Amino acid sequence: MFPFTESPIACPVARRMNMFAALPLLLLAPAALLAQQPAAPDDAHVAARVDSLLGQMTIEEKIGQITQIGPSPIGPDNLKPEDLIREGRAGSVLWTIDSAQIKKMQEIAVNESRLKIPLLFGFDVIHGYKNVFPVPIGMASSWDPAMVEHAQAIAAEEASVSGVNWSFGPMVDIARDPRWGRIVEGAGEDPYLGAAMARAQVLGFQGPQLGTPHHVVASVKHFAGYGAAEGGRDYDASYIPEELFRNVYLRPFQAAIDAGVGTVMSAYMDLNDVPASGNVWLLRDVLRHDMGFRGFVISDAWAVASLKVHGFARDPEDAAWRGLTAGVNMDMGSETYLHNVAKLVESGRLPMTVLDEMVREVLAVKVRMGLFEHPYGDLASKDKVLNDPEHRTATRVAAQRSMVLLRNEGGALPLKKAVRSVAVIGPIADSADITGSWTAETNSAVSVLEGLRKKLPNARIEFVRGGDMQRLYPLPWDADEGKKATPLMSAEEMNREVAKAVQAAKRAEIVVLVLGERANMSGEAASRVSLALPGNQQRLLEAVVATGKPVVLVLLNGRPLDISWAAEHVPAILEAWYPGSEGGTAIADVLFGEVNPGGKLPVTWPRVTGQVPIYYNHNLTHAPEDEPGFTSRYADFVTAPLYPFGFGLSYTTFAFSNLQLDQKSISPTGTLHISVDVENRGGVAGDEVVQLYIHQRAGSASRPVRELKGFQRVALAPGEKKTVRFSLGNDELKFWSPQTRAWVVETEEFDAWVGGDSKATLHSEFKVTAATE
Ligand code: NOJ
Repeated sequence: MFPFTESPIACPVARRMNMFAALPLLLLAPAALLAQQPAAPDDAHVAARVDSLLGQMTIEEKIGQITQIGPSPIGPDNLKPEDLIREGRAGSVLWTIDSAQIKKMQEIAVNESRLKIPLLFGFDVIHGYKNVFPVPIGMASSWDPAMVEHAQAIAAEEASVSGVNWSFGPMVDIARDPRWGRIVEGAGEDPYLGAAMARAQVLGFQGPQLGTPHHVVASVKHFAGYGAAEGGRDYDASYIPEELFRNVYLRPFQAAIDAGVGTVMSAYMDLNDVPASGNVWLLRDVLRHDMGFRGFVISDAWAVASLKVHGFARDPEDAAWRGLTAGVNMDMGSETYLHNVAKLVESGRLPMTVLDEMVREVLAVKVRMGLFEHPYGDLASKDKVLNDPEHRTATRVAAQRSMVLLRNEGGALPLKKAVRSVAVIGPIADSADITGSWTAETNSAVSVLEGLRKKLPNARIEFVRGGDMQRLYPLPWDADEGKKATPLMSAEEMNREVAKAVQAAKRAEIVVLVLGERANMSGEAASRVSLALPGNQQRLLEAVVATGKPVVLVLLNGRPLDISWAAEHVPAILEAWYPGSEGGTAIADVLFGEVNPGGKLPVTWPRVTGQVPIYYNHNLTHAPEDEPGFTSRYADFVTAPLYPFGFGLSYTTFAFSNLQLDQKSISPTGTLHISVDVENRGGVAGDEVVQLYIHQRAGSASRPVRELKGFQRVALAPGEKKTVRFSLGNDELKFWSPQTRAWVVETEEFDAWVGGDSKATLHSEFKVTAATE
């Protein structure tokens, strides 16, 4: 049971883990930031300010602080946002990026409402505001948390000067099933990489503490387990056993909390039969008590009202009661709190103490953000900041660092700039809509065609679309909901396009074939039953390859796709994801060797859809597939993926040697130091991501065959060798045991491997022994 009377802030774990304690983070902050960093208000100051406000509030004003409205008139009563704000009946507005409108609404809040409490303006700034970075799965492929932090700091600055002070990101849902469309918004399948990306993004959005100028408050989402949706269908139920939940799904959220994230967004779906946005165990016991979260929880959009649709709440009033008692502080968009909470308090069903607790946590975040002192964006700087050429350059660098070279037989890449004719083929090769899901001020990018034309001003570049693709069921704003899309091209036109593509390929020295998915095929409500290349792309691919011309395949997509045929027949394959504003430029940089790709897969890449869910850190079975006899393998197909987690090639080669452990045996509280040499054996400079994996051989539970526990992206000149160091301590060795129902470091034997992907072979071993042994 959750304590009605006790505020979670009073819980001992939360007090111990003071998430706003800024000192360790300040030590890591750049000097420039420290100079402008205002002192963080201490807990006592925040509590005093919040209590003083709370003491003056009417019940309507309290409900206002836990209500987030849209920017347009709402509900059957056509309530105008401006009126609600003036009356103190709204605490936040979502989905507006119109700076003038934001300013006007904020002026009403701070000048005309009785208590002058400023508003939070929330938007999905998940990979850029005006200058768009690669989609999050792309940024995770960089394995470069510092770059990702920098990218989100730029996104935060652009949003914040525009007046948007709250980002609905980072999305840190672990996803092991690429049919799920939202895999594009996260960092893939692994809890350790996911945690690193979560931490980097929170620090990027918020800076070292809430209230850092030109930053925003972040909202880590979707708490929790959304990525495990059954069948990969968006919004469908997740069933996750507690050990998997804690060891895998919650780890990135914990990293975000430890980095000081100000808000958490509760998920839509049923988690083990209880909707996440009404789940007392999840939001009270786990989030507040166990994980030490001290900010506030915002529901996902309309998720409080949806508690009824789930068949969980009886009616809207019951939904409001369930949301609040579970600890959802703010209702995003559904007006369920707005219209029902007063009745709940009056009837005595909802104690005022619970309402006060919800309001207190919202106000505390506003105080810590310094919103009362600085409620506005910085419109005078907006143009300069949004058009800062360094921001644009940062998107190009991020795209370069996010690309993963999947195949490069016979050194097909890099291409030579002396090439005189290129056929650029593919339905999205000329598309500027390659920024991917969730963009704010712009969704237009440099297309691949444009990038290549700029790179090769003197070559003959012929473009042929080659066919087309689209969703079978369009998004609501693209067509009437539920209606099937009309084919963009007839079958005859598609055939003619393929024939044209073949002719163009024959005329050219090389072919750059750009395949993948349209941006609206990935993201929210964009799950797919198949990972096959959509439309006529497979046919186009085979026809173009049959010409015998050298083909380079560039993929623009938000999830692993079935490219098994290409992986055998196309010499060069570059995964570019949705690469953001400078996508086409960055792709050309990589294709022509001005940049050596160094990204690595944050997901295991299946060969066919039927292999999913597939992930590297699975448990062993009693009959592993490489044993004789009855084994876990499929009877009709290989089990191995096409590319393992952590995989990615380079234009150079790397060698690992000299794996050293400073001790062969440590105590459960000890730390082991590991070093390894990595050398660039090729003729060009390049980056290698050095990855450390471990395996616990026995224990109170079966442990995964391998688990990532360290990584570093290292730049190496030709012939250069560097020593990379890792440490393994409590954080890396612990797991939540289903037998002891606690976090444990067990006195067992472990394997360690280091290498360039999850198949790393350089091996050593160590033991954890009781301190007295
Ligand atoms: C619904 C999505 O699930 C969530 O990720 C997003 O932040 C909200 N809508 C607000 O746009």
